[in-house]
This record gives sequence, C-alpha cells and structure tokens, in this order.
Amino acid sequence: MSDWFEGLDTTLGMVWSQIEAAGTRAPARFAVFASVGRDAGAEARMVVLRGSDRQRAEVCFYTDLLSCKVGDLAQNPAATLLLWLPELEFQIRLRVRAQVQSGAQVAHLWPDIPPASRRAYGGTPPPGTPIDAPADHDPTIDPARLAVVVCGIDQIDTVCLTGPRHHRALFLRADGFGGQWLAP
Ligand SMILES: Cc1cc2nc3c(=O)[nH]c(=O)nc-3n(C[C@H](O)[C@H](O)[C@H](O)COP(=O)(O)O)c2cc1C
Repeated sequence: MSDWFEGLDTTLGMVWSQIEAAGTRAPARFAVFASVGRDAGAEARMVVLRGSDRQRAEVCFYTDLLSCKVGDLAQNPAATLLLWLPELEFQIRLRVRAQVQSGAQVAHLWPDIPPASRRAYGGTPPPGTPIDAPADHDPTIDPARLAVVVCGIDQIDTVCLTGPRHHRALFLRADGFGGQWLAP
C-alpha cells in the first residue's frame, strides 16, 4: 500500500484534512500570512486560521480592521499562507487573493469570540503606531474593529520530506486543482 504523499489526490486530501482540522486546535491552525507591504517589500506575520470551505477553495482568519495588513491588502490582494505540519514533515503553501470583510458582514461572528480573544480587536492608538511606553496604549475592545480576511486559494504548492525522496506537487484553481508533480 502506498503512502498518502505518493499520490496527487491523497496529497490534496491531506491538505484539506489538515486545514479543516484547524478549527479544532490542530497544528495547522497557525499559519504565516505574507503580503506585499506598502513601504518595505514583503511582510509576514503569524495568524490563526478560523475557517475553511473546500468547495469554494477558501480559508479565513480574523484581524483588526486598522491593522497594517488590511491597508496592504487594499493595495495588493495577492498574498501567501504558509503552513508547516511537523509530524507529517509537510509544508503547504497557499497562494491566495485576500478580501477583507467588516461591519455588518461579520458582526454575527462577535458573540462566538471568547472574551479573552476580543482584546485583539480595538485599542487606541491603532496597531503599529509608535508609543512612548506600553501603558500608553488604551486596550478598549471595539467590536466594529473585527475584520475577516477571506483568502481565495489560486494555487496549492506542497512539499513532503518524509520517505527516501521528497515529494512536491502543485494544484491550480485554474485547472480544478487536478495536481502536477514538481521537482522538489
Ligand atoms: C501565534 C500568533 C497568532 C496570531 N494570530 C493572529 C491572527 O489570527 N490575526 C491577526 O491579525 N494577527 C495575529 N497575530 C499577530 C500578528 O502576527 C501581527 O503581529 C499583527 O496582526 C500585526 O500585523 P500587521 O502589522 O502586519 O498587520 C498573531 C501572532 C501570533 C504570535
């Protein structure tokens, strides 16, 4: 019997099973989100994946509406989500188009955000503003600052390091995510 990483279909299946498990505190919930910064080239930061939809090939995370990444994405929605699953020795690189939702579109999500997590949305001055000391930041929570970054996946580029040879594959939305092996 072959291993999951030896087939294109089973590799894609593993990608989605990992992403879909992200809501249940699985390792895939942490991702690096890289976008094109307005000032100094590429910007990368950790995010927590909050949802996915395989039919639409989308994943999403939450952010503060006034965070720098929201401004960056308004100028250039092309971005990459990078996941590393250490137990599987599996890298998943999602090339995406990010769309930011806010206001009435996302207000229904607020009641389900645990109180301890709500402090990620709000505060004065806005994220990234220079302050003289940490105490100069007023952390008042503001539900109107909740934003959801919906990432439509255009490409899935995977690398698996397990076994005698490395396996790399590329799945494109443009051809229905059929899959193509790549030299690793
Ligand atoms: C483990 C971890 C998880 C994080 N999750 C999120 C998240 O889901 N959404 C978010 O906007 N920022 C998250 N952050 C903070 C970001 O990494 C980043 O510092 C912040 O969003 C500001 O980024 P920006 O200035 O590029 O917008 C997380 C940080 C860490 C360390």
